[in-house]
Amino acid sequence: MKSRRINDGVFWMGAIDWDRRLFDSLIPLPDGTSYNSYLVRGSDQTVLLDSVDPPKAEILMSQLNDVETVDYVVAHHAEQDHSGAIPIVLGKYPNAKVVCTPKCKGMLMDLLAIPDGAFVTVEDGETLSLGDRTLEFIHTPWVHWPETMCTHLREDKILFSCDFFGSHIATTDLYATDQGRVYEAAKRYFAEIMMPFRKIIQKNLDKLKSRNFEIIAPSHGPLYDRPDFIVNAYWDWVSDEPHNVVVLPYVSMHGSTDLMVTHLVNALAEKGVTVHQFDLCVTDIGKLAITLVDAATIVIGTPTVHVGPHPLAAYAALLANILRPKARFASIIGSYGWSTKVVEQIAGLIPNLKVEVLDPVICKGRPTQVDFASLDRLAETIAAKHRELSLSPPVALRLESR
Ligand code: FEO
Repeated sequence: MKSRRINDGVFWMGAIDWDRRLFDSLIPLPDGTSYNSYLVRGSDQTVLLDSVDPPKAEILMSQLNDVETVDYVVAHHAEQDHSGAIPIVLGKYPNAKVVCTPKCKGMLMDLLAIPDGAFVTVEDGETLSLGDRTLEFIHTPWVHWPETMCTHLREDKILFSCDFFGSHIATTDLYATDQGRVYEAAKRYFAEIMMPFRKIIQKNLDKLKSRNFEIIAPSHGPLYDRPDFIVNAYWDWVSDEPHNVVVLPYVSMHGSTDLMVTHLVNALAEKGVTVHQFDLCVTDIGKLAITLVDAATIVIGTPTVHVGPHPLAAYAALLANILRPKARFASIIGSYGWSTKVVEQIAGLIPNLKVEVLDPVICKGRPTQVDFASLDRLAETIAAKHRELSLSPPVALRLESR
């Protein structure tokens, strides 16, 4: 794709990766992604903000064909999907300086062997004049590594946010027009890489309140010309309050755990609790991650395999432990044939979750009426716990201003 005009002197550049289906060898990308780079021309100097993933470097370099001079390359984030082509850009513009946080400088030297002399490091709130335009650098750690920052282009009221507010979507839409689609993709992205750092992201969002921006230009997915839409969504995702939601990832080998899951889901639904049920044999783990953003309770369903949990259930527990959702309660249900240690072993996999563990329901063989009664009690306990916290239903788009 060719570069695209945002306004006089500010351009989208970069590459759309329609066919990418996996990120970090872990994260499913059902809708592809983009690596957004931006060119800002000031009256005195020109700056490129971020680059692209190295396999797409040729596209960025062709967009830079008519750009004679680049004085600065801003690196918001050292991860290679944004920084990887910077050495190639510097090959064309050897006098350009790389502008980044001090932490990012060290990472770029380690990852890309960019020499020490090529850097200008910037502190939080520092500005850089391009003549008639001013860049203000805002340190916003953990979106998604510790070295990350955003850039506020003051005169144009544009916030360049890199991963922050980004979405993995390949689209020709320059701006987010299909808000429902972008909301889900941005939530997926938040869940997979930023959720563990939501307390710090609350502070980053607070910092942005004093900045005047009408456009957010992230480095993945479309731009936002109605920033309230994504900023309000982030406030909901990072808040300390979960919603009236249970997430239930499970595996069943011969149907017993499946019967228990069905019974529990029905019992919870009758009590007005929203439940997301995921068969781990077929589910997209990104969908599971999205629902963990809102979940007040996580219930893991697993049969017993060689005394422990099914490996797929262990994987789901490990994933939840890594993503550190704000869930308050957890439980385990499932069946075994002759002996089991699933409760102890699953509990050992989730030390990061600050949850109250509700009585598990583990049955021998097929569930009986006694086991179904135990599941009814678990459903009642979960619903009562949610009621005590006055949890609200999950929200989708929240368009009003805070
Ligand atoms: Fe899009 Fe953390 O890189």
